[in-house]
Amino acid sequence: MPSPFKRLFSRLPMARSTRAYDFALAQVDLNQAERVLEIGAGQGYGAAHLSRVLPHAQLFSVDISLECLKPEQLESGPKPPIFIQATAPALPLAAASMDAVILVMTFHCLPEPQQVFHEAARVLKPDGALILADVDGHHWMARPFEWVEHAFISPLTHAYTPEELAQLAAHAGLRDFRVVRRPGKEKGFMMWAFAAKRPPSP
Ligand SMILES: C[S@@+](CC[C@H](N)C(=O)[O-])C[C@H]1O[C@@H](n2cnc3c(N)ncnc32)[C@H](O)[C@@H]1O
Repeated sequence: MPSPFKRLFSRLPMARSTRAYDFALAQVDLNQAERVLEIGAGQGYGAAHLSRVLPHAQLFSVDISLECLKPEQLESGPKPPIFIQATAPALPLAAASMDAVILVMTFHCLPEPQQVFHEAARVLKPDGALILADVDGHHWMARPFEWVEHAFISPLTHAYTPEELAQLAAHAGLRDFRVVRRPGKEKGFMMWAFAAKRPPSP
């Protein structure tokens, strides 16, 4: 992301989309989770919020750049998140180490989408959950969103459809793929996709 946009992004209100994280957490049970990975830290408020609502878990949050991070302004839980500068297609994390991998408004701008799914599957423990919240590629605003992103933020941006995500998940060996939308906002801009690392059923 070019610096002027990073500066703009880093000034956006801090709590603007913790609702996206909360809606995701309402769909999966992470009460026993020990380690949770976020990909796409941004300002860091999502990881800080997760560390408050999952106080038993250690949060890790990866971003290609930690320039927007505002840790001094973030009130986090008893275990503050660990922020790591790294690229999503090459996570510097051990295999089978995470109970969940969560991406909020991040997947659309990542390079090597299939490799990102493979990496998420690699770092997930058996039965771990992949949680992805992003723009629905079928929404009428998806193309204008891509045009704006291509012009000002990243040429990589692609608003994925549920079918594209399902295929990426299947190729990465993830199962039980499903897409959920907020009740009353079934035709909304945002969708939540979930998949699990499970052996194939006999
Ligand atoms: C739109 S922000 C979303 C951040 C946060 N999850 C939120 O909801 O505000 C997308 C983030 O993805 C990060 N990003 C872009 N390319 C990346 C890559 N290759 N690996 C890891 N993070 C990347 C950007 O630096 C940015 O912080």
